[in-house]
Amino acid sequence: MKILVVGSGGREHAIIRKLKQSPKAEKIFCCPGNGGISADAECVAINAMDIEGVVNFSKENQIDLVVVAPDDPLAAGMVDALNAEGIMTFGPTKAAAQIEASKVFAKDLMKQHNIPTASYEVFDDPAKALSYIEQKNEYPVVIKADGLALGKGVVVAATIDEAKQAVIEMMQGGKFGRSGARVLIEECMVGREVTVLCFCDGKTIVPMKASQDHKRVFDGDKGPNTGGMGAFAPSPLYTRHIAERTEREILLPTLRAMNAEGFTFKGVLYVGLRLTKDGPKVVEYNARFGDPETQVVLPLLDSDLFAIMRAVREQRLAEMDIRWKDGAAACVVLASGGYPGKYEGGKPISGLEEAEAMGATVYHAGTKRTDAGYVTAGGRVLGVTALGDTLADAIHKAYAAAEQIHFDGAHMRRDIGKMDM
Ligand code: GLY
Repeated sequence: MKILVVGSGGREHAIIRKLKQSPKAEKIFCCPGNGGISADAECVAINAMDIEGVVNFSKENQIDLVVVAPDDPLAAGMVDALNAEGIMTFGPTKAAAQIEASKVFAKDLMKQHNIPTASYEVFDDPAKALSYIEQKNEYPVVIKADGLALGKGVVVAATIDEAKQAVIEMMQGGKFGRSGARVLIEECMVGREVTVLCFCDGKTIVPMKASQDHKRVFDGDKGPNTGGMGAFAPSPLYTRHIAERTEREILLPTLRAMNAEGFTFKGVLYVGLRLTKDGPKVVEYNARFGDPETQVVLPLLDSDLFAIMRAVREQRLAEMDIRWKDGAAACVVLASGGYPGKYEGGKPISGLEEAEAMGATVYHAGTKRTDAGYVTAGGRVLGVTALGDTLADAIHKAYAAAEQIHFDGAHMRRDIGKMDM
């Protein structure tokens, strides 16, 4: 089978590494990929948003399965365009991907189908949003842009000034373009956050190992939000009792709700949960594998990912025996100095072989291959993942391997996997 993975980050590298283990995977391409991915797949210089380019390439190269990994091409209808040409895909259609692409769609779905989540109001008019904030006067409060905003469209405002500033920036300042023209103002839920990625074929939903990620740039959950500075799985917070409740109150109702609305979801449904004193509630849905969560969840998968993806496509997920490895996985992200603000690329990277020789897997998020070796080419550069018998063991091994890697300005959090945050 010839497989094409669309995307270019650590998540895509983790998907490719897992697909490579399938006896059916004869050849893997990646559009556009990155330097490190090119060691595992043939990278093709087609942008992840170039729907026509991906369709033409898939036709010309008789691709058997296209995995659309990032949110933007899913929301833009890449899966629909490929399906229209009879090409097998993994990922939801544009209509189903609204569960991520429109926060208002997702909240309305949850409200209509009694799926637990934070209470909210929707505003198209900035004056009304500002007056609602004044009248409600409860902090912290969550301000969310309706549309996709590179993971930056959520502000937890601690004061009235912060809340108003967020609304003004999104609705009047055009901070996220059209994505911020409509905002939600939400109750701020209290509790720990857990990610549950689920395979979903529209009939059956199968949760993967629950994980946790670390979004802030500095230790102790300080500093601005990033795309994710590390992750670990399984989450000790996701007990059997919580898992059963989540399945009953959230996962199955979401699957049924999407079908009832006519948007059958096939792909990976990312359910971001807040474990509140009243039980698990949905923070957000995404229509794809999470990043960096995929870099700890897929290494624990002990079944053939290609076979699962094909079963999802053919709505045969119920027949699959999906197995997981015992133990735990931890991923430490190495980022460029200055990230998530301004940073410079082109810094030579050393120690990659030494890190892998210690048993870790190094996923490339933003690297370029040059004649002299790999150089940095992104904010998040590498994700160093290790498996262990226990979470503590996995964390220790991931850090020991990450310490081997050097580039000018490299930055990593030192507290990945700490449970007291
Ligand atoms: N780790 C958060 C995300 O993938 O959206």
